[in-house]
Amino acid sequence: MPAISASSPGKIILLGEHAVVYARRAIAIPVSQVQARTVITPLVRQPAGYIQVQAVNLQLDAPLAELPADDPIRQAVELTLGALNVQRAPAMHIRIHSSIPIAAGLGSGAAVSVAVIRAVSTYLGKPLPVEDVSALAYEVEKTYHGTPSGIDNTVIAYHQPVLFQKGQPIQPFSPGGKFTFLIADTGISAATREQVSGVRERWQADPAAYESLFDRIDALSGQAFQSLQAGDTEMTGRWMTENHHLLQQMGVSCSQLDELVNAALEHGALGAKLSGAGGGGNMIALVSDEHARSVEDALRSHGARQVIQTGLE
Ligand code: MEV
Repeated sequence: MPAISASSPGKIILLGEHAVVYARRAIAIPVSQVQARTVITPLVRQPAGYIQVQAVNLQLDAPLAELPADDPIRQAVELTLGALNVQRAPAMHIRIHSSIPIAAGLGSGAAVSVAVIRAVSTYLGKPLPVEDVSALAYEVEKTYHGTPSGIDNTVIAYHQPVLFQKGQPIQPFSPGGKFTFLIADTGISAATREQVSGVRERWQADPAAYESLFDRIDALSGQAFQSLQAGDTEMTGRWMTENHHLLQQMGVSCSQLDELVNAALEHGALGAKLSGAGGGGNMIALVSDEHARSVEDALRSHGARQVIQTGLE
C-alpha cells in the first residue's frame, strides 16, 4: 500500500459564534494559511490491527490502543473504522502535524479530526464522502467540546465559506468581492469547552437576556451574509464590530481581545471582533488593501503574537 496523506485548513468565524450553539445563524470561512496534515504509511512488520499514532505537535508517539478511550485522535480513527465496518485494518503508522494553533479559535481540533478521517478512509481504499467526514468529525467534537454546534467540522470538511445553522442544510456562498482579514493571536489559550459552558451557565441564570443577544447576533449574521455576497466590505465590517460588542455583553471577550479590536479599528480596519470561543485566542479584522499594513503593525504593537492574513475573493 502506498503512503496516503490528507490535509485540512483552519477556520475563522466571521459572525455568530456561541449564538450558533443555540441554533442561530453563523458565518465561517476556511483558512488555508494554516493546515493539519495526516500521513499514513504501512507498517509491514506489525500484525493487522496494529496502529501507531505520532502527533508531532503533542510530542505523542504511541500505539492507538494505549491512548485514552476519549482521546480525540483515537476516536477519529475508531469512528472511521466503525463507519467502514473494518474490524482489523492493515497495520499502519499515522503521523499528524498541524500548523494550526491549539485552543486559539482556529478549529485545530476539527481540522485534525477531518484530516485523520480522510486519510484513514482513503488508506483503506474507501474514501468517505464529505458529509460523512463532517459527521464523524462532529462526533469527535462532541466528546471533546461538550455541545458543539457543528460549524467547525462543517466549514473545515467542506472547505468553503458557509452560512451555518444547526439542523438546517448548509449554505455555501461566494463573496461578491475581495475581503481581506487579519487574524491576530492574543497568545492566551482558552478551551472552547469552558467558554461554551460559561455561556450556558449565564444563559441559564438569565435566559431572556441571552436569548435576546442570540437573536441580535442571528440578525447580524443574516445581514452580513447579504453584505458578503454583495461585496460590501464597509457594511460587513460594521456587522462584525457590532457582533463583537454583543460578544462582550455575553462575557466571552477579555482585555487583550478588546485591546486588539480597538487598535485595529483605530488604525482603519473596517470591522473587528473576537473569533471563535473567545476568552483569549484570536481576533479578526476586516481591512482594505490601503490599511492592511498599518492595522497589522498596530496589532503587533498591541501585543499580537502572530498575525495571519487571509481572504475571500
Ligand atoms: C467555536 O469555534 C465556536 C463556538 O460557537 C462553539 C461551537 O459553535 O461549537 C464557540
